[in-house]
Amino acid sequence: MTYQAPTSPDLHVADEPLELAGKHILLCLTGGIACYKAAELCRALIKAGATVQVVMTEAAEQFITAVTFQALSGRPVYSNQWDKREANNMAHINLSRAADAILIAPCSADFIAKLVQGRADDLLSLMCLARPLGSTPLLIAPAMNREMYAHPATQRNLAQLQADGATVLGVGTGFQACGETGDGRMLEPEQLLEDVIAFFAPKLLLGQRVVVTAGPTYEAIDPVRGITNLSSGKMGFAIARAAHEAGAQVTLIAGPVSLSTPRGVDRIDVKSAENMLQAVINKAHEATIFIATAAVADWRVAAPSDRKLKKDGTGSTPQLVFEENPDILATVASSPAALQGRLFCVGFAAESHDLAAHAQAKRLRKNVPLLVGNIGPAAFGKDHNALLLVDAAGTTELPRASKRSLARALVNEIARRCPSPAQ
Ligand code: CTP
Repeated sequence: MTYQAPTSPDLHVADEPLELAGKHILLCLTGGIACYKAAELCRALIKAGATVQVVMTEAAEQFITAVTFQALSGRPVYSNQWDKREANNMAHINLSRAADAILIAPCSADFIAKLVQGRADDLLSLMCLARPLGSTPLLIAPAMNREMYAHPATQRNLAQLQADGATVLGVGTGFQACGETGDGRMLEPEQLLEDVIAFFAPKLLLGQRVVVTAGPTYEAIDPVRGITNLSSGKMGFAIARAAHEAGAQVTLIAGPVSLSTPRGVDRIDVKSAENMLQAVINKAHEATIFIATAAVADWRVAAPSDRKLKKDGTGSTPQLVFEENPDILATVASSPAALQGRLFCVGFAAESHDLAAHAQAKRLRKNVPLLVGNIGPAAFGKDHNALLLVDAAGTTELPRASKRSLARALVNEIARRCPSPAQ
């Protein structure tokens, strides 16, 4: 089989499903200044493909109007348990049965206490109590003043809510509307969107500890100059995110890139190949899966200058001497954990031509069970790519798609090949 490089890598992949396509979310607001962020969240959920039904408490309506949410969601808002639009007058039953999830954002301290007590004196609390525990998950985005959040009563209530089966999405830290600074802000809409998407992802890597390398490395020539490459880190970051969504504990070891860290992923920033190797060695001993997506510089300057190299006016150029960098993937793949099958190693190959042949040769040379080939110049910095998976059984093509969707497909492929972690 001859692998065809993608010819127009930046064209939109039109038929890719949206991440929340087919999901119906009950977006519920309780009283708090963070209600203003819920408008953005409503839009974000809809842009991700979900249908959204908004439910508001009386207190929430003091902060933002139902008109805003009707316009954003395209559906009339529910706030009253006696709503006459429902033929059977049981809005709390009908709404909770139709939803794939109930998301309360913002969720006030008072409403958390109410949920813990199982009270049911308004539409939202009634709906939460009446929800089928096995099929309508409840997600909570707390929002309150830092003292209220830190109070033992609130912490006790949050722990109890979790024990009762709710998912508490955490809070942000920083400047609060009350003028104080600390924990308790509602997470930002894009963070909540990431958490909701992750919530629905199949937990194929539950219990796995994954280490991912990403981005380029930077090899110094002197204090102000260095050698690097065009890797943006997007593929590695997308894989780290997909692995986290699949339930793994993920450490992302990143060269110099300007990308934000995926939610829930631990990130270690490094510069040179040697820094990256050290960080990988520190983490690999507790990992069960190692995915090397980084475009590690093959060579470094043997003796970088500790002072800026200056022109001397004669037109002479610096004579740089290079030495080879350690091969991080090959080092990890030859560790006892990898050789004894406790650490599943995945390599990447950035090639410019003859992808299948080069990738298979590289897989054998680096001694890894799975190697993922791509055409480097067509992938670097782009949002789309095409992958060729090479293992002992042969090749599998993952056709051109967004890096985000390829990352999910690759995580599925890794989960299929990888042994379950020892408990
Ligand atoms: N890799 C690594 N350490 C290096 C070089 C590469 O860990 N010093 C890893 C990459 O992260 C990737 C795989 O090895 O997973 C292949 O990288 P690639 O640059 O395609 O191959 P090289 O080994 O550098 O070989 P060549 O440049 O000759 O194609």
